[in-house]
Order: sequence, then C-alpha cells, then structure tokens
Amino acid sequence: MAPPISAVEAQNWVNVQRGLVSRDVFVKDEIFRAELERIFDRTWVFLAHETEISEPGDFVCRSLGSAPTVVVRDDDGCIHAFLNSCRHRGSEVCRADSGNIRNFVCPYHGWTYARDGRLITTTFDRHFPKDFDRSQFGLAAVPRLESYRGLIFGSWNPDVMPLRDYLGEIAWYIDPFLARSPGGMEVLAPPHRWRARANWKIGALNFVGDSQHILTTHVGPLTLDPVRAARAGFTTAAENSFQVVADTGHGCTLTYLAPGLPPEAYQTHPRELLDTYRNALPAGQFALLDRLRVIVGTIFPNLSFIETQVGPAQKAVILRLWRPVSGTEMEVLSWVMAEREASSEYKAAVLRSGCHNFGAAGVFEQDDLELWASATFASNNPIARQFPYSFHTALPYINSPETDHNWPGRIFRPADTEVAQLEFMRQWDRWMKVPDAGANVQR
Ligand code: FES
Ligand SMILES: [Fe+2]
Repeated sequence: MAPPISAVEAQNWVNVQRGLVSRDVFVKDEIFRAELERIFDRTWVFLAHETEISEPGDFVCRSLGSAPTVVVRDDDGCIHAFLNSCRHRGSEVCRADSGNIRNFVCPYHGWTYARDGRLITTTFDRHFPKDFDRSQFGLAAVPRLESYRGLIFGSWNPDVMPLRDYLGEIAWYIDPFLARSPGGMEVLAPPHRWRARANWKIGALNFVGDSQHILTTHVGPLTLDPVRAARAGFTTAAENSFQVVADTGHGCTLTYLAPGLPPEAYQTHPRELLDTYRNALPAGQFALLDRLRVIVGTIFPNLSFIETQVGPAQKAVILRLWRPVSGTEMEVLSWVMAEREASSEYKAAVLRSGCHNFGAAGVFEQDDLELWASATFASNNPIARQFPYSFHTALPYINSPETDHNWPGRIFRPADTEVAQLEFMRQWDRWMKVPDAGANVQR
C-alpha cells in the first residue's frame, strides 16, 4: 500500500499565483486513490438521467466514487441507489449495464432483494438463527440521492450540502439546456462508453474551458469542411464569448457567433421549438441561447456537458462523465439528449450526428483522445514530472472578472484563456487539502 499523501506534498500541487500545476496530479496512482476518498466519496457525483430508468424495475449500473452502484426505479416510481454488492458475501447483485428486473437475485447463493432494496429471501432462511433481522440486511443504500432537472446525483457523504446549493450559480446556465421545454430532456440511447489512457481531470478541464485547443487539435474536421466550419463560426470567435466561474467550483464557456456570417448560420436552434423555449424560460435565460454557437462546461468534479451544432438548426446536448479508473486511465460515458417534445425524425437526426461528433468513434473524440493519451504517456516518468504544467494564460485575467455583467457567477473575457481551468484546479486543491471526511468545500 502506498504511503498516505503528506501535507508537504499536497502544498505543491496547485500554484494559482504562478499558474503552475504539478504533473503528479495527472499521473500518480496515490493521488488518484486520495481523490476517490477526498473528492468522489464526499461530493455529489452524477449517476444517471431519470429518463434512463423511466419504468418500475428499470435499472442502470454505474460507479459512485470508489464503489459500484446500481440505480433503480421501484414499484412506486421512486428512485433508489444501492451499493451493488450482496450483503451475504459481496458479489455484485446486478451484472448487466442496464435493463429491467423484477427482483435482484444474487448470482452467487441466491439472496434476493426487492426493487427498493429490501432483502426478500436468502433461499436458506430455514438455516438462519431465529433472531436474524432481515430488515437490517437489505442492499446498502447511497445515503444521499437528489435530482436536478432530471440529473440524478448521489453522495456517500451523509452531511453533503443539498444538491441545489452544491450546483449554485451553474444551475442558471444549465437550465436553458435541460429545462427549456415542459417535458425536459430525454436521453436518446444508452451511453457510449470507452476507456481513455488519460487522467479524468484532462477531460474535465477540456470541457470547463479549453478554447485554445479547438483550432489545433481539431484542425482536421475544420479544414476538411472549411465552408461549414466558417458558417458554424468555428474560425471567428465573437467578442462577446466568455468564461463563467461559478461560486461552487463549476464552470463553463459560452462561445457566440461573430457578426457577418450568412443569415442561416444564426438559426442555431430548431425553429419548431423556439416558441417552446421562449415560454419555458425566463427572458434572461432565453437570451442566453441567441446566437450561441456552443456552451461547454463541467460540474465539479466529473460531469461535463456540451450543447453544440450538429446540423442545420440542430443542437445536441451531450452529457459526459469522466470516471476515474487509475492515475492514468478513465472510463468515459457519453449521452446524447433532445427535448421530449421534439419529433422522432429530429431525435433520430440529433442522435446520429451527436454520435458522429461526440460518440466513442466521434470525429472530435478521436482527435482529443489521441492527444490526451500522448500527454499522459509523455508526463508519466520521473524526468517529466519535474516540470509543472503551464496555466499562465489565466494569470492576466483571473483577478479581473467583468464588473458590468448581470448574469450569475464571475464572468471572464476573452473566452480563450485558462481562467476556468485554473479555477477548476483551485477547487480540486481545496477538496484535496481538507482532511475530515464529512466536509463540504465552497469558495
Ligand atoms: S454472495 Fe450473494 S448470495 Fe452469497
Ligand atoms: Fe476537443
């Protein structure tokens, strides 16, 4: 077993004043193990979307921090999350990714649990002591489980702050994507899942605000179809694009279309749903969508989202989870979503193009994964670890948020600096330095 992280080591991970972050935090397994305890077992972590488990008995298997977890809807429509481990001798009671069950029957010796986690029978009840209290041996429930706009989060920390408080100011920015129609959003298919040979934080940082990588990493798709790229505003970042750093460590980047593009470029959202959006959203949040080319962000620690153009007047909302596997590996889960009210043709088109761009073999994913693995490989040796990563382009801006903006959070211009990324690392550093288990960390 690796020695525990010392306070001296932890002091040197993130240096916000100098814009430096140690490479250790992107490769070392002992830091990954500390993250599981200090972050993933204490914060809210995304588990599933409610539309993945619409019917009684629907379940999905996920991870909550270090523990395999099953999320299930019971006979009354209530959602539960349990440690996916039998109370007899620990086998996973549910071994499929998703499906519908009547009861959870453990495949080892047959202990059987109801959809609400109650132990129904051990199959050998006749051999149990008379005073065996079956009610004490149901599946171990995740102590805190709350939803926001269909997003189900869990926490192993019974004292974690309420989810709505944890989301804080970022909620205002995700509402225009999750709550812009009465029915809300719907997951269109099971998530694509793949492994990446890179630390989970590289994904989280990429989505919180890495506008600098677009024109180099993704030069392939942009130059292969330059007309479409120009019309989509890829090559001309508008001056009113900006980054948001929310009060609780979450962040996002909004990129708006520059003036002077052909009129059809500004028809970003589906025309048939615009009135629905206008009716569902307060005016300020509806205005956020006007001329928006892309919003991309991260809810700390590892849930990201992106809404981007996938076709003419077609927008896909993608949810992304960066599940830590080791210091140098993550599993990625990626969902494509659309409004429940959208036509089946529209949903099919969004799913197709959402997967084409952001699925396991997606055009943009291939570019990113290759470089994330390369950065991890080249950093994971004692020589490279002497040289911290640079976040310098945050420094001229990080203490100068906009003062004349009335949207929530701290707003930083321009969009193509590393402010949101350095703030993410600052928040990561706060959680990693707080030793007591039940703690909450805010700015
Ligand atoms: S481990 Fe589940 S019944 Fe024995
Ligand atoms: Fe990318």
